[in-house]
Amino acid sequence: MRRLATSDLAEFQSYRHDPQLGQYQGWSPTTDAEASSFLSEMSSAEVLLPGIWIQLGIADPASLTLIGDIGLLLAEDGRHAEIGFTLCRQWQGRGIATAAVRAALDLVFEQTRAERVLGVTDSRNLPSIRLLERVGMRQLEARNATFRGEDCLELIYAIFRQRQK
Ligand SMILES: CC(C)(COP(=O)(O)OP(=O)(O)OC[C@H]1O[C@@H](n2cnc3c(N)ncnc32)[C@H](O)[C@@H]1OP(=O)(O)O)[C@@H](O)C(=O)NCCC(=O)NCCS
Repeated sequence: MRRLATSDLAEFQSYRHDPQLGQYQGWSPTTDAEASSFLSEMSSAEVLLPGIWIQLGIADPASLTLIGDIGLLLAEDGRHAEIGFTLCRQWQGRGIATAAVRAALDLVFEQTRAERVLGVTDSRNLPSIRLLERVGMRQLEARNATFRGEDCLELIYAIFRQRQK
C-alpha cells in the first residue's frame, strides 16, 4: 500500500471506469479533473481522521504502478472503522488485495483504538465475501438495502482487534 498521487491519474481512471469493477461499489466514474483533484487531496490527507474517508493506493510491488485502492473510515467516536477495496481486473486472482487488506487492518489497529473493522458487501459479490473471510472477518448481520434502485442484501462483516492474526 502507498499514498495516492496525482501521477496515478491514468491508472486510477482506467480501473474506475471499468463497469464490472464498480458494479457493487459506492463510487461512480468521475471526470479527469475531478479524479485529479481527488488524488491530490488524498496524496496529503491525514490518515484515519475520525469521520473522514481516506483512500490509499495498492501498487504493483515491482514498479509501484497503481493497481487498486483501499478506503478506510474511522468512526466519529473512534471505536470502529470500515474498509472498502478495489483491485483492477488484470491483477486479480493472486492474493494481492488480500495482502493489501491485511496491511490496512494492521494500520487501523496500530494507529487507532478501534475495537473492530467492518466490511460491507453486497451478498452477490462473491470475490469480496471470499476476501473478507480470508482475512478473518466474520458475518455479523445481513440487512435489506437498495443499491442503484435495486433491492439487495447487504452483508456486514467484522474483524475484532483481539482476533486479528
Ligand atoms: C474484491 C476484489 C478486490 C477481490 O479480488 P481478488 O483478486 O479475488 O482478491 P485477491 O487479490 O486477494 O486474490 C484472491 C484470489 O486469488 C487466489 N490466490 C492466488 N494466489 C494467492 C495467494 N498467494 N494468496 C491469496 N490468494 C491467492 C485466491 O484463491 C483468490 O481466488 P478465489 O477467490 O477465486 O479463491 C475484486 O474482486 C474487486 O476489486 N472487485 C470490485 C470492487 C469490489 O466490489 N470491492 C468490494 C466492495 S468494498
